Amino acid sequence: INKINVAIDGPAGAGKSTVAKMVADQLSLLYIDTGAMYRTLAYAALENNVNVNDGDALKHLLDQLTIKLVNENSGTKVLLNDRDVSNEIRTAEVNKHVPVVASHEAVRLEMVERQRMLASEGNAILDGRDIGTHVLPDAEVKIFLNASVDVRAQRRHEEQVKKGLPSNLDELKKEIAKRDKLDSTREVAPLCKAVGATEVDTTSFTIPEVVDTIINLVKKPV
Ligand code: C5P
Repeated sequence: INKINVAIDGPAGAGKSTVAKMVADQLSLLYIDTGAMYRTLAYAALENNVNVNDGDALKHLLDQLTIKLVNENSGTKVLLNDRDVSNEIRTAEVNKHVPVVASHEAVRLEMVERQRMLASEGNAILDGRDIGTHVLPDAEVKIFLNASVDVRAQRRHEEQVKKGLPSNLDELKKEIAKRDKLDSTREVAPLCKAVGATEVDTTSFTIPEVVDTIINLVKKPV
């Protein structure tokens, strides 16, 4: 049996990680949350006072970091040099700085190398912004997951409220729109739909429907 890779790209809050995790569970694929890797570097930069505009300094910092993604039922646990930073990488502060950290070529080259290494361990499903376009351009299945900004902000808002965390819908909307703009307009590997990707708009589909769509694409005989 040939190795299967599934690439899921899309803007913030489109449901990529939820969907990817469910597909991974059902098809026994290794799930790799690439956004968590950029988030971890952004967190480490803030913690160590490394300038997020300095690509070389960030690359130097990254060279000293191990980032481990441990998949658990509740989601991906993220270990930064063996310290659990799963919650720390999901703050508003990290949200704000991560697109800048992720815009540097030196950072991306190293991240892409690590992601390919992880993916080579088995059948894998990766979610991010540049998986279908750069990390795994030969992936068997490529999905571009999308939804309106309003719906994406609303979902994030509900998630936060459910977790008992403070949340402001208008702020979220602004934050998401800004991050999308930075991710889509950067020079290196901007967010865009890959050639051959199937666009799935989750505004009008439920999570199980999206999961089924992807599973059918994976199972489709070639
Ligand atoms: O997917 P998530 O929202 O956790 O990603 C956080 C940020 O990491 C994105 O806004 C983007 O700036 C960056 N990212 C990236 N390329 C990826 C995954 C994430 O540039 N493959």
